[in-house]
Amino acid sequence: MFVQKKCFSGKFFVIFFLFFEKNMRKSLKSLLSVCKKNRIFAKIFLRKMIKATNITKSFGSLQVLKGVDLQIAEKEIVTITGASGAGKTTLLQILGTLDKADSGTLEINGVNVSIFDTKDIPSILKPFVPYWVRTISHRRSVLKSNSLADFRNRTIGFVFQFHQLMPEFSALENVMMPALIGGESFRNAEKKAAELLDFLQLTPRLHHRPAELSGGEKQRVAVARALINTPKVILADEPSGSLDSKNKAELHRLFLDLRDNFNLTILIVTHDKELSSFADRNLVMSDGMFL
Ligand SMILES: Nc1ncnc2c1ncn2[C@@H]1O[C@H](COP(=O)(O)OP(=O)(O)OP(=O)(O)O)[C@@H](O)[C@H]1O
Ligand SMILES: [Mg+2]
Repeated sequence: MFVQKKCFSGKFFVIFFLFFEKNMRKSLKSLLSVCKKNRIFAKIFLRKMIKATNITKSFGSLQVLKGVDLQIAEKEIVTITGASGAGKTTLLQILGTLDKADSGTLEINGVNVSIFDTKDIPSILKPFVPYWVRTISHRRSVLKSNSLADFRNRTIGFVFQFHQLMPEFSALENVMMPALIGGESFRNAEKKAAELLDFLQLTPRLHHRPAELSGGEKQRVAVARALINTPKVILADEPSGSLDSKNKAELHRLFLDLRDNFNLTILIVTHDKELSSFADRNLVMSDGMFL
């Protein structure tokens, strides 16, 4: 009796398995494709490239950032939109280590950037501190800020709305500049810059100055300049703000290509709805906080 019962449940299990196996495989496949499409695995398993916690910033009595938390995974493209004056550029400058938050912590590529903080002697105490102590302290703070500049130069690439190319230098020289500042030899910097400009289809414009380039070309030169030190992160502030719709669409495609070809994490501040639809995630900022 017992053996019969066991056989019966075994058969039932086989029929059940055959019937559902096909459907299960189908639903597993569709679950996988949904995860892939929304980069869910990336969000769960990839480490965080930017980790900002409780960032605050005031200018005088105006509190611009009111405790911003932000985590961006490696190879993620995130856009920030929001009304003018919401604090987007201020946040981007802090994330790019160009400005300092009043409070909060910031980690980029696993490095806590506050270790680079320059701690100078408070000016009220300076008259009471011997000259040699002040000199050493000043040297140390200069060293520390240099290493922050070095960290920034190696880790972060910036793209601004008005590209901010140096007018007296050619496209090639503009792109070479951060590499030369970073200590690269002239030959290597020139080779790297030419390769990048080639990737961005600007080889025929290498020796032209910014005034001789179109808006879209200038912006691509600025993108090449941001990439020359093979950064981990690209921070862009209104990168398509001064472009026409054709160049805008090209720049949007370029950001996707860059992420795939250079393994970049990209954060873009924009008013452009189309650009935010290209991103993996769009965050809306209002009055110094994310909604
Ligand atoms: N250096 C500064 N000194 C004083 N106030 C500042 C400074 N920088 C920005 N602000 C103020 O901080 C607020 C936020 O400025 P921010 O540039 O971050 O806004 P935003 O969201 O980028 O706006 P937009 O979309 O117009 O570029 C604004 O009210 C601005 O006037
Ligand atoms: Mg701004």
